[in-house]
Amino acid sequence: MTLSSQDVTEPGDDALAAKARDHLWMHFTRMSAYQNGHVPVIVRGEGPYIWDDQGRRYLDGLAGLFVVQAGHGRTELAEVAAKQASELAFFPLWSYAHPKAVELAERLADLAPGDINRVFFTTGGGEAVESAWKVAKQYFKLTGKPMKHKVISRNVAYHGTPQGALSITGIPAAKEMFEPLVPGAHKVPNTNFYRATEHGDDLEAFGRWAADRIEEAIEFEGPETVAAVFLEPVQNSGGCFPPPPGYFQRVREICDRHDVLLVSDEVICAFGRLGTTFACDKYGYVPDMITCAKGLTSGYSPIGAMIASDRIMEPFLTGTTSFAHGYTFGGHPVSSAVAMANLDIFDREGLNQNVLDNEGAFRATLEKLTDLPIVGDVRGDGYFYGIELVKDKATKETFDDDESERLLRGFLSKALFEAGLYCRADDRGDPVVQVAPPLICGQEHFDEIEQTLRSVLTEAWSHV
Ligand SMILES: Cc1ncc(COP(=O)(O)O)c(C=O)c1O
Repeated sequence: MTLSSQDVTEPGDDALAAKARDHLWMHFTRMSAYQNGHVPVIVRGEGPYIWDDQGRRYLDGLAGLFVVQAGHGRTELAEVAAKQASELAFFPLWSYAHPKAVELAERLADLAPGDINRVFFTTGGGEAVESAWKVAKQYFKLTGKPMKHKVISRNVAYHGTPQGALSITGIPAAKEMFEPLVPGAHKVPNTNFYRATEHGDDLEAFGRWAADRIEEAIEFEGPETVAAVFLEPVQNSGGCFPPPPGYFQRVREICDRHDVLLVSDEVICAFGRLGTTFACDKYGYVPDMITCAKGLTSGYSPIGAMIASDRIMEPFLTGTTSFAHGYTFGGHPVSSAVAMANLDIFDREGLNQNVLDNEGAFRATLEKLTDLPIVGDVRGDGYFYGIELVKDKATKETFDDDESERLLRGFLSKALFEAGLYCRADDRGDPVVQVAPPLICGQEHFDEIEQTLRSVLTEAWSHV
């Protein structure tokens, strides 16, 4: 994307970037990179675009961080937040309720499949995952299976940073500095069909194989010790692995057979990222719990939720039992009000339908990139795609650590940003570029993404 004069807002001064360098501790960031470098400062957004403090415009190809579903600059959501803050800025959900949390809980229960009717609010996704593991443990203690406490999740999956959620996370590099973590979290293969070690020529057989690894792990650990399986509908980390057809149906059967709870971690995938409010609906399975956050408010205020089935709630409804767990800001009135207004926008503007109508075009546009020698695979669903970069397309040979470091961190992230596309170059699994634009995007934005990726990935090849 080129910068045109109307794209330029007031140029900022570098003082802000300097203060950021000196005082802001950025998340998952090598701070040394900024000791002599300029911290990018994003100052405003409008629709699918954002602007930095130098007045440069970028296409927000990652919806912030898989968050800004409705796009930037929605004053309507800001006004709802201001109104709620004037009326009741804060009250906790500790033994009391407030109207917007009640309304939002009812709405989410209506939208969730099956008997998933009980909403426990948090402030974000990691807390929702943490809550789901804790509630699973207590549920089994209350129902006479006190040994059931372990969890199973997939290699390379990211489920958040609290120490329980981090245990569930399957990225060793994200965990090693914080070991020992919560014990009892076991890993199974993910659904990376591009790098399938078994059934690489038969997607459904691969899906059966991958699901069966979950049963194998349950049996190995002992079903009487396993409480829950945590899976994302489309696994983010590693670069958008969709579930093979039949995968979740088989996982559901396995969980039922061993009385293990199925948690659908939809922190990224819910709220339209795949074209449905809850992603489990797209793939036709009903979990026991859904964890969600991010897109619920399109980022206009933070909130998350663990949504549980009636069956899980049941033992908590008797006697002196309580779930001794909570967050001061969980279900914050301002965030709840903003979430309601955001869901109104979804309904009014048909954002889910926009994704369903355009997901084929998005895929087709990104698939054009497969003519580049560096593009090994394009995969994903809805508005959520990963583009895997390879050294050799024919053999699928990937980059070694040094090459990956030079390519992704040394060149790609910066070059994409400088070319006007904010997206993610990630090497938590094999090297990928991820795109997940706001749900208001259409063909013109897909083309812009494709053209920017094409020119930068072409140049990247010369850095290999
Ligand atoms: C699947 C999944 N679970 C949990 C989390 C953690 O959410 P948060 O960063 O809001 O704590 C994330 C964050 O990206 C996620 O993708």
